[in-house]
Amino acid sequence: MSEKIPNVAALLEETKTIFRNHFNEEPLQFVYAPGRVNLIGEHTDYNGGFVMPMALPLITIIVGKKNNGSKSYVYTSASTVDTSQEAILDMEHITDKSTGPKWSLYVRGVIANYIGTAPAFKAVIHSTVPIGGGLASSAALEVAVYYFLDEIGEPSKATVVNRALACQQAEHEYAGVPCGIMDQFVSFMGKTRQALLIDCQKMTVDYIPLTDPRIVVLITNSNVKHELTGGEYSTRRKQCEEAAQLLKRVSLREATTHDLDYLKSINANEEVIKRAKHVISENRRTKEGAEMLKQGNYMGFGRLMAESHNSLRDDYNVSCSELDDLVELAMEVEGVLGSRMTGAGFGGCTVTLLFSNAVEKVMDNIRRKYKGVPTFYICEPSEGAAKLCDCRI
Ligand code: GLA
Repeated sequence: MSEKIPNVAALLEETKTIFRNHFNEEPLQFVYAPGRVNLIGEHTDYNGGFVMPMALPLITIIVGKKNNGSKSYVYTSASTVDTSQEAILDMEHITDKSTGPKWSLYVRGVIANYIGTAPAFKAVIHSTVPIGGGLASSAALEVAVYYFLDEIGEPSKATVVNRALACQQAEHEYAGVPCGIMDQFVSFMGKTRQALLIDCQKMTVDYIPLTDPRIVVLITNSNVKHELTGGEYSTRRKQCEEAAQLLKRVSLREATTHDLDYLKSINANEEVIKRAKHVISENRRTKEGAEMLKQGNYMGFGRLMAESHNSLRDDYNVSCSELDDLVELAMEVEGVLGSRMTGAGFGGCTVTLLFSNAVEKVMDNIRRKYKGVPTFYICEPSEGAAKLCDCRI
């Protein structure tokens, strides 16, 4: 069996109950933002390239209300041994990164980058996005906080793109991760039954229907997270920038396979050449993949997913043995169209496209042979961030 994903209404009720128990008051505003899975187009967003994620039914809910005074009180239902579940934020010193639990930095970051004036508030955060599992749990939190601020304050005039950029900035400045725009963008812009082909340079989106009832998107969480993620991510980003600079291009978006020959001819660093090779080929795969999905060519799309994984493993070097094993175990089963690591890498999840009648067999094969303990999610493309209504009000 795959994990049962609670529906939004049930999760909202749970979150409201946590709020009542914690604050002894009624919450008045309710919002959510989803996590995402990326179908193809990995490590291309910060190179001005193309990505193709979809929003998930795994979501982060925030309920709460405005608070008089200058202090905000935020409580998260996610408990860990080494961090407090409550944060008190002084809205007049919101840029102070030295206090409070680590998760509250994301909240601070969004408040600091909010386009408009953020009032003080009381809020509860409750989420089904696995934390640090490569399904954009941090973007879901950032976008939910942004949406919540929009709900409790003056309605913001900022465009969706500018809101996504503000959330990305929060992650850069407050979590220290120089991420691209994909996660925040899709968390705002996701649509039911559709994947998003995002042009990360033009910041535009082309919606691609994913409605064939025979086809399933299966996410497998390796449940491992290798510590290297933060540092390795920014190293990759710098290597790509170096390649673009050597080629005298604004970004690798403009680069072609001929440019790889040029990089070789000037004896550029071997790793830099491999990174550029991945980005150039991944952009091509993502654009081709979008066309294939539009035509219902799932076999072709699956092949591109497999190529994408190999490129991430061999040229971008961001996979790990657990992700490689999960991909291989999925691909062993008849009815699987394609499988690859998804997200930043070094742990987290794989995404597999397959025929629905193969789902049980794949999960069984992985359970029997994978060295760790996997978690499975069967996911349909879902709606982006939204406010929820309390039907009793
Ligand atoms: C993380 C980042 C994204 C993107 C992916 C890799 O999820 O937040 O911006 O770069 O890694 O594709």
